[in-house]
Amino acid sequence: MKRVVVAPGDGIGPEVIPPALDVLRFFHPDWEYIPVYLGYECWKRTGDALSAKTLDVLKKADLILFGAITTPPDPKYHSVVLRIRKELDLYANLRPVFGNGFDILIVRENTEGLYSGIEWQEKDRACTLRVVSEAGSRRIARFASACAKKRRRHLTIGNKANVMKSDAYFLEICMDEAEKAGISIDKKYIDSLVLDVLQHPSRYDVIVTTNIFGDILSDAAAYLEGGLGMLPSANIGKSQALFEPVHGSAPDIAGKGVANPIAAIRCVSLLLKYNGEKPLATEIERAIQKTITDGIKTPDLGGTASTEEVGRAVLQNLVNVKKETVDQ
Ligand code: NAI
Ligand code: MG
Repeated sequence: MKRVVVAPGDGIGPEVIPPALDVLRFFHPDWEYIPVYLGYECWKRTGDALSAKTLDVLKKADLILFGAITTPPDPKYHSVVLRIRKELDLYANLRPVFGNGFDILIVRENTEGLYSGIEWQEKDRACTLRVVSEAGSRRIARFASACAKKRRRHLTIGNKANVMKSDAYFLEICMDEAEKAGISIDKKYIDSLVLDVLQHPSRYDVIVTTNIFGDILSDAAAYLEGGLGMLPSANIGKSQALFEPVHGSAPDIAGKGVANPIAAIRCVSLLLKYNGEKPLATEIERAIQKTITDGIKTPDLGGTASTEEVGRAVLQNLVNVKKETVDQ
């Protein structure tokens, strides 16, 4: 029995989370599901984007299924996603990207770097502090090395150590942890790495990098899978994990019922894998692939199906797989 907190959030979040939740409930009807209200709409209505009470509920969750949040560039508004990652100390952000002939795992440091949240405004300039700590770097380097050890035993370290001292520091720590883990490494400057991942995705396995570089790299890598509607992510801490699509609240398509729910459904795959239920994650992936080959696709993938239609098709394919297994 697990306590799952469900936070749909803003924009397309409340559109893509219900089909994802249907899939999770299909496998675990007996788990406890607790909905919470947070985000920009919540801020507009209540003056608080993330109340102390909601934060407390999140802190008591085993697992969190999260949609997306709108973050307006308003200096009075602080990003809810960043706050949750920090408050719950969800230090590892995993973003798998896989397809024909490639299987990449982007491991992004999730609590510091340029998203440290330490910023201030002066008379004629605004400053954001890029914090790269030894503890923060070591734990993400260890995490990435452990992932690499279970895969192709190779780690790519995305960095900009040629320009920034903070990245030279990060790189050194990653190399040290990789050596301890007995895996090989290569170092790549993040700008050329982004291009190379797109041109030669099969060359990569686990990539570790700092917060903002991982954010940019994973959005760009979504190109390999057909766009942002496809990529899930896991935010992992010591004893809790939060799963959210890589995409944001997509205000340009919100309310139209055409958002691609696959990224959100794949979050459920990651959640189940994290919970030690890899075979179920594989079933979901098969159901998604079947839905796509059947041509049931939202407009971002060139189809005409709605969010609900894709969600229903994935669920139906899961039910069919179960039936076949029982019939055999
Ligand atoms: P976005 O990811 O929301 O949208 C970028 C483009 O991709 C848009 O054209 C959108 O229509 C498309 N797209 C995204 N998800 C899609 C899906 N499931 N199906 C079909 N098309 C999809 O990024 P954008 O526009 O930069 O940001 C919008 C808002 O989301 C901002 O307020 C931003 O701060 C927030 N955001 C929140 C994130 C989070 O909650 N973790 C992450 C990224 C952005
Ligand atoms: Mg992003």
